[in-house]
Amino acid sequence: MRQLPTVKRSVLITKRIYPEAVEFIARHCDVDYEKTDDGLPADQLLGRLRGKQAVVSQLTDKFTPEVIGQLEGIKIIANVAVGFDNINVPAATEAGILVSNTPDVLTDTTADFAFTLMLATARRLVEASEYLHQGKWKKWAVDLLVGQDVHHRTLGIIGLGRIGRAMAKRSTGFSMRILYSDMAPARPEVEQELGAEYVPLEQLLKESDFVSIHTPLNDATRGLIGAAELKLMKPTAILVNTSRGPVVDEAALAEALRNGVIAGAGLDVFEREPQVHPALLDLPRAVLAPHIASASVDTRRKMSMMAVENVAAALAGRRPPNLVNPELWERLAGSTRA
Ligand code: DGY
Repeated sequence: MRQLPTVKRSVLITKRIYPEAVEFIARHCDVDYEKTDDGLPADQLLGRLRGKQAVVSQLTDKFTPEVIGQLEGIKIIANVAVGFDNINVPAATEAGILVSNTPDVLTDTTADFAFTLMLATARRLVEASEYLHQGKWKKWAVDLLVGQDVHHRTLGIIGLGRIGRAMAKRSTGFSMRILYSDMAPARPEVEQELGAEYVPLEQLLKESDFVSIHTPLNDATRGLIGAAELKLMKPTAILVNTSRGPVVDEAALAEALRNGVIAGAGLDVFEREPQVHPALLDLPRAVLAPHIASASVDTRRKMSMMAVENVAAALAGRRPPNLVNPELWERLAGSTRA
């Protein structure tokens, strides 16, 4: 790839990230750091990006085709997340902008949390804790806060990517039967290692005691789980979502929980974050978390570092390690060679 001229380059960091990541990138270029958690609306984002060559973004920054169409001189959008549904990647590619994410480093942390949500919802942990905090525990009773077993039950995994597979690995320790659905079956050796069986979504929903969603958000998965799909599930079933909120129709889910169509839900993501459907807030069998599945100290630090390393590479004319549009890099490298 052609080296950029040696003018000092600059990056916009749109929201707070871990300090060592800011220090690192400040050694490579000028930094315009929005050191808040507020997020920049499109007009401010565009204003702050004028004259910059890179941006460290987060999932609340919306890079629509309209926003991307107005960017000038930006080489890379480096998202601090594995998901990148906040960025229109085809538009970025078309505009010659590299896009990177932070895969792998959060796989186990996110699967740990999905498993936590499954256990907490099944065993009514949040209700139990509140019960004690509120001073309601007066006597032991044989059916006090009884929940459902997780071990030896059936787990249905929607999306057997990195995090889905990590979820499957955890469930083998609980002697669970594992079903999964995806766009295509995994390689036979992966299925064998995990003891996972590829089934159509309908069968997965009908047979699973727990359904855990691990798909990216895209046109094929938006609204994947709505009223009709929830009706297929067992009345004792629990839905877990740590992927993206819009994969589930939240109003339909609240309705299904209220009417006992399914028994519970463990949710880390929501359709219109940070808003949560008000009906869910009133339901004790909805265990709700504010999008923290990857939020361990180590993982969030690593994610921050990965994003700035991607920026540093792009600005130095090196291939950023975590490109989601590598074909653009090949194209740019090819046009330099030509
Ligand atoms: C991701 O990485 O996509 C998570 O949702 C945020 O950590």
